[in-house]
Amino acid sequence: MSMWNTVQFFRDPLGTLQRQVAAQGRLSEMEITLSRSGVKGTLLAIGPEYNQQILSDTKVFYAITTSPPPNTAAQRLTQGVVYLNGEHHKQQRRLIMPAFHKKEVDGYAQDMIAVTQRLMDHWRPGQRVNMIDEMTSLTMGIVIKTLFGLDLDKEGYALGDLLEEWLALSSSIAGSIIPRSLPGSPARRLIAVSERIEVTVRELLAQKRTRLDDSRDVVSMLMKTHDEDGTQMSDAEVMANANLLYLAGHETSANALTWALFLLAQHPDVMANVLDELEGELHGSPPTLEQVGKLKLLDGVISETLRLFPPVSFITKTVAEPVTVGGHDLPEGATVMVSHFLTHRLPELYPQPDRFMPERWFSLDPAPYEYIPFSAGPRRCIGATFATLEMKIVLAMLLQRYRFSVIPNAGIQASFFFLLRARQVPMLIQTQDRQFRREAIRGNIVSLIDLA
Ligand code: HEM
Repeated sequence: MSMWNTVQFFRDPLGTLQRQVAAQGRLSEMEITLSRSGVKGTLLAIGPEYNQQILSDTKVFYAITTSPPPNTAAQRLTQGVVYLNGEHHKQQRRLIMPAFHKKEVDGYAQDMIAVTQRLMDHWRPGQRVNMIDEMTSLTMGIVIKTLFGLDLDKEGYALGDLLEEWLALSSSIAGSIIPRSLPGSPARRLIAVSERIEVTVRELLAQKRTRLDDSRDVVSMLMKTHDEDGTQMSDAEVMANANLLYLAGHETSANALTWALFLLAQHPDVMANVLDELEGELHGSPPTLEQVGKLKLLDGVISETLRLFPPVSFITKTVAEPVTVGGHDLPEGATVMVSHFLTHRLPELYPQPDRFMPERWFSLDPAPYEYIPFSAGPRRCIGATFATLEMKIVLAMLLQRYRFSVIPNAGIQASFFFLLRARQVPMLIQTQDRQFRREAIRGNIVSLIDLA
């Protein structure tokens, strides 16, 4: 039963969670098994109180680790901060944080603008696109440039393609079923790609080491930063974290940007007000850092998008020592799940929770565990400031130049594959002419948002 429920869960995670809460309330045992510890079942715990207990106590609630083939390049590349626990996690986090302080992130704004400009110049009015592909290529360009400092046309996209191949193979379900011993198996291909990434990044690190003082990209920062006692990251740690930052840093933003464009297209009044704000402040130009701070409605659009469609919609943690959650005694090895998506739909926190109302953020000030698109506590997203600036710059530029509409009757199916996403978000790009119009749409998206 547990196996069948687990399969069903992955086919429709958000629907399953919604039904579970409707039937059993906010704290309940689900018959799904997500960890390999041998302890069956998962405790679903929804709401700020449980978010706080589970997300703040990193001694008891551990990140679930991956299990790539041991002693291979594939394993070495999955040693980045998100997979670590305890002191090791804290130490690596300390070494990464400086690269994402506001001052550093502000320095990446020009790269964000340049990569966005490039995409806008490439589009043609009247073009139909799958918006998720466009946004993925945009955010991939931005992280390649800001993380690695690479020229996109020279080596940048080549490394991006390798990392994409790695991502596809490491998350392949076939990879966990087909034995590694078989020639051409996904596990073997994953090892081969990981080895190529190691060689490429190792060469890159050697080049960077010769001019570290003048470089400001994230990887150079990781190579320069040291702890109070002088400890620095080893090359292997830099590689693993660069790989992780690439993965954590572009699909999340790509999904958030796609949902923002979709929601704006389907809310013509909000879209018109956002454009008034942008044109009034920016007059067609990209925003300066000072102007970014003044775009209050755009800020509300981003907060509201991340509330309704948080790219990380739920997360599981493994219990490292016996603990009680809401009266449930959990043994070591048990799994608990919190949900960003369901927390953000609680009506006592967000009245009319299924509606897109960016103006609510003019007066709303949720507590840290009530609003968790970037999580909260000791594992809060390191890239939150980066992602927020990136989304503001990208939207401010795109919306002033182009009008986006959903293709009439498009089927939009939100699914969950590590992130809340839709494989197809078909949209039409027109010159900005303010002819905003909501279109009829199909797919499960209509049950996730109230378009009334
Ligand atoms: C809209 C965009 C983004 C969203 C919604 C998002 C969301 C999250 C969430 C929910 C977590 C916590 C996961 C957990 O509980 O284990 C997280 C962790 C993390 N994120 Fe993000 N993220 C975004 C963008 C970025 C970017 C741009 C970067 C860096 C370039 C980044 C780097 C990280 C890292 C390194 C962690 C691990 C922190 C730790 O384990 O201590 N993220 N992110």
